[in-house]
Formats: sequence, C-alpha cells, structure tokens
Amino acid sequence: MIRLKIHNKEDEWKREYGSFAERNKSVLAFARKGEKEYMDSQGWLDTEEWADGERVRRLEMLAAEIRQNADVFVLIGVGGSNNAARSVIKALQLPGTPEIVYAGNTLSAHAFNQMIGKLEGKSIYINCIAKNFETLEPGAAFRVLRKYLQERYGNKASERIIATGTAGSSLEKLCADNGYVFLEFPDNIGGRYTAISNVGLLPMAVAGIDIRELVRGAADMQKELHNGAADNIAYQYASLRNFFYSRGYKIEMLACFEPRFKYFFKWWIQLFAESEGKENKGIFPVAGEYSEELHSVGQFLQDGPPIIFETFLDIREHQDSFLMETDGKQDYFDYLDGKDFWCINKEAYKATVAAHSRKMPCFTLEIGRLDAYHFGQLFYFFQFACYLSCKLMGVNAFNQPGVEAYKTWMFQALGKQREEGIKY
Ligand code: PA5
Repeated sequence: MIRLKIHNKEDEWKREYGSFAERNKSVLAFARKGEKEYMDSQGWLDTEEWADGERVRRLEMLAAEIRQNADVFVLIGVGGSNNAARSVIKALQLPGTPEIVYAGNTLSAHAFNQMIGKLEGKSIYINCIAKNFETLEPGAAFRVLRKYLQERYGNKASERIIATGTAGSSLEKLCADNGYVFLEFPDNIGGRYTAISNVGLLPMAVAGIDIRELVRGAADMQKELHNGAADNIAYQYASLRNFFYSRGYKIEMLACFEPRFKYFFKWWIQLFAESEGKENKGIFPVAGEYSEELHSVGQFLQDGPPIIFETFLDIREHQDSFLMETDGKQDYFDYLDGKDFWCINKEAYKATVAAHSRKMPCFTLEIGRLDAYHFGQLFYFFQFACYLSCKLMGVNAFNQPGVEAYKTWMFQALGKQREEGIKY
C-alpha cells in the first residue's frame, strides 16, 4: 500500500488545508462513480475492463513466444504509448530477456542510425503502438522498421510484427492486409492512462515483468481508492497539490533517491502536464533525481523563490545492500566504514526532507518495495489522483488540445495531405 506523509509542521496552513479539503470533497464521489461527460476516456477506472484474467493470459503467451525467438524487441511508440512500459522495463527487466529498443519517440536522424545499428545480426520483433495512427514519430519509425524486416526476413517478416491500435483504424487495416498480429488499443482510454492494458502490458511481459502482479497491484489500489473512507490518499494528495497551488506554489518536484525511477518520472510528468496544463492553469511537473540533483537544482529549491512544493517517492523495505569497506588509506571517509549504501541513501533522504521542509511544502509517498505489484499501485494511484486534481482545478483531465497546435504547422511544412474518410 502507498502511504502519504506530510513533513511540514505549521498548524496554521494545516487548518486552512483541512477546510479546503472538506469544502471540495464532492469531487471524490463524482470521480468514483465515473462521469458521463468523460465516458469515452474512463476505460482505465476499472482495471478489469482492459486487463481481465483472460487478456493477461493471452498477453503472457504472446510475450513468451516473443521471448523465445527474439534477441531484440523494438517498442515503437511515443508519449502515452511507450512511457508506462519503459518506466517498468527500465526498473525491473529480468536478465536473459530480449533487449528492448525504443523507437518512434524521436525524429532525430542520429537516433534512427543508432537504433538500426542495434539490430544488426540480431533476431528482431517489433511492436508499433499508436492510438491515432497519424502520429508522425511512430508512423515514420514503423515504416522504416517494416522495410528493414522485409529486407532481412522476406515474407516471414510479418510473423515478427505486432501492432497495437484502435479497432477500425488504418493501422488495423494495415495488419489485416499484411498478416501482422493486431492488438486492441482501448478506444475509451487516452494514451497516458493505458499502463494497465495491451499498450503497457505486452512490452513489459516481453521484458519478463510479472504483469499479473502489476495488474493485481493496480486492482488493489482501485479497491482502496474506490471503497475506502474519508482518508482517501489520492484525494489527500490531489487536494494538497491544489491547496498549495492556490497559495502560489506553481511547480511540483517529484523527487526520489532511487535512480530506477528515472523513466517513471517521465511517465508521471506526461500524465500531469498533459492532463492538467490547460486554460492557463496547471501545476508544472518536474522530477528530481537525487542525490545527484541536490548538487544542481538543490540550490534553487533551498534558496530560490517559493514557487515549488516537493513530493518524495520513498521505498520502505530494505531491498538492496552494498557495504562500504576501507582500503586502509587515509581519505577521511572513515565515518562510512561498515555502513550499507541503502542506509546512507536513506539518511540523505531524511536530511533532504528536514532541510527542504523548512522552506517549502514537502510530502512523501511511500511504497512497500520496488516491484511489479507496487508499480501497478503507483500507476492506478497517480492516474486517479491526477483525475481528482484536474477536477479540483476545473479542467478536463483527458483531452490535450494544446498538443495539436504545432502539428498543424509541421504537417503543412512537410506537405501532408489529410485523407478524407480515413480513421487514423
Ligand atoms: O496521452 C496521450 O493521449 C498522448 O500523449 C498520446 O499517448 C501520444 O500523443 C501518442 O499518441 P498515439 O498513440 O496516438 O501515437
């Protein structure tokens, strides 16, 4: 389970926060029910809808077949179509599973060359994931990789291609015409909310992640957030964010002392930035990779303008050990002798909380351990909290009208003609 701790002591803001949370708590009841207005985007609210036992079993079987035959699995996708899977794979991939190569998330020619370079002489499978198969990055990368596979494997190439797209889309047709495996992208979930569906789960399963455990973690979190009483942690977190936002704190730093969360930060940043940043409102999400970044942005946090609040992600269980031993030379680091880096890192976390909480609002979200189950918990927790936070802010959590603006200019410059009557 996830625990929320508040580190600041001032009683004055706690009273004001209490009445803010009380005044707005009707948003929780609305969100729990699921709102008609957002019906086409809330397929993630019930994990059973797109990650029931049968679907998970089929994904496990497909992943086992890929693991058996592939040296490299190329995940083609951008934003919500790759961030969840990448965050788990980068943290938990099992040894002996195919190398996961990422494509479709850049237009850099250098990156294309590097990506192709990783495939030479290896057995390749690819999975193109796109809800709207008009997105330039995955569309372009899929084209490049299909040609590459065709040249390497001839007619057998189609056996190595999987696409995840919406039913009735041009991507589904491409699969049907060419014999690629087609998996459904939930039509009632936007990309950034699709961790617990075919989108996130197949690549994770290929990397040896226990997706059954991950789905169980999400489902348990769903139960807790939908049935629990007034101390609902997602509501507490969402209302704390909005309370401090109303007091001028416009930036949230999600910070952690475990580098394995690096790519989870990217998922979290996308979730909150794309869901909340609308109508000239929103809390700007940034991430702090500690302790490294205490030596850079740490200065700004401690002494810069009071516009940032900080949410720490911490792991309760002592999971790894590495003991410091002396080499017998005088280097004045003897105070570390015999200490475990797990504990040294924990002391750095506690010291940072002590220092930063004198300056800014600081909370910790604590998870039991870093594993598939808790990733499932985190995905569901943050998705639900983000939805609540958007409701408190008065914005639609599920659209992203702002990202269309640059695309119009880009497509025009590249000479793209929009085909009438095509469902991309
Ligand atoms: O959350 C979202 O909806 C977006 O970030 C999309 O996931 C992202 O733009 C990729 O879209 P698509 O899957 O259509 O290529």
